Amino acid sequence: MWGIIATWRMAAEGISEASEILANHGDAGDAIETAIKAVEDFEYYKSVGYGGLPNEEMEVELDAAFMDGDTFDMGAVAAIKDFANPISIARRLSQEKVNSMLVAEGAEKFAHKEGFERKNMLTERAKIHFKNRMKEVREQEIKPYSGHDTVGMVCLDEFGKMTSATSTSGLFMKKKGRVGDSPIVGSGFYVDSQVGGASATGLGEDLMKGCISYEIVRLMKEGMHPQAACEKAVCDLDRELKQRRGKAGDLSLIAMNHKGEWGVATNIEGFSFAVATALQEPTVYLTKMIDGKCVHEVASQEWLDQYMKTRMAPLEEK
Ligand code: GLY
Repeated sequence: MWGIIATWRMAAEGISEASEILANHGDAGDAIETAIKAVEDFEYYKSVGYGGLPNEEMEVELDAAFMDGDTFDMGAVAAIKDFANPISIARRLSQEKVNSMLVAEGAEKFAHKEGFERKNMLTERAKIHFKNRMKEVREQEIKPYSGHDTVGMVCLDEFGKMTSATSTSGLFMKKKGRVGDSPIVGSGFYVDSQVGGASATGLGEDLMKGCISYEIVRLMKEGMHPQAACEKAVCDLDRELKQRRGKAGDLSLIAMNHKGEWGVATNIEGFSFAVATALQEPTVYLTKMIDGKCVHEVASQEWLDQYMKTRMAPLEEK
């Protein structure tokens, strides 16, 4: 059995590429890196890699992480600028026994010495988004960019190896140096090849409060199906946050177990995800929670066409 599951529609092309690798006896590390790079490289996705939306200084600071579920090797970069593929740097760092999570200038120096491709990640389109936002009300609360956020994935290869990975530009207009859940092990991602893996998207500050990716893997280890584990973890954290703090940020989670069974849960409307397994062609779903249970629907062709049209529509300065 092999499989790959990812947050958001934006991962669909990447998981299609990854499924070719996995179907041809490829490695879960190579497959997940390929899938995340496809998202990082596509400039019309505003929350990951090239074209990601900038912080309040108009700089694109990126976070990414990689974890190997066989060895628990993990690497991460946070607030890194001017490198094309943060995921590849995170994966390279996962081979280090120490210094495996690097931030900002430290991450950039490492990436430079290792010969990773430099790139100005701020696109003209992202600059227009920035300028338009500056003209809007300054007091507006910043939140995950609607319809997009972190790409987070879990992957299983036919040899039983599992990996998990994330990549994001984080919150649009975040403070310089702000880091969310995505590069934080246990919050943005976690994987154990003997059990399964999970990855998150949404408001990092709230996702971190529940160490939610680890919590889902823990529940799967206790015998829960990935769907039940995601629903329980999301409902529990959503409830706790509302009880203690009055409100909960966006929380959306994907998971896959070591058998290739998968699950997804969210506390928002309109969360999309993409999945492919040895038994299932790459498929995009939309999901919503109804009474603690998530109902997944295959996205219609009309929805898929509209999605791309909206992403690539010409953008003008207001
Ligand atoms: N979930 C992405 C972030 O909060 O940065």
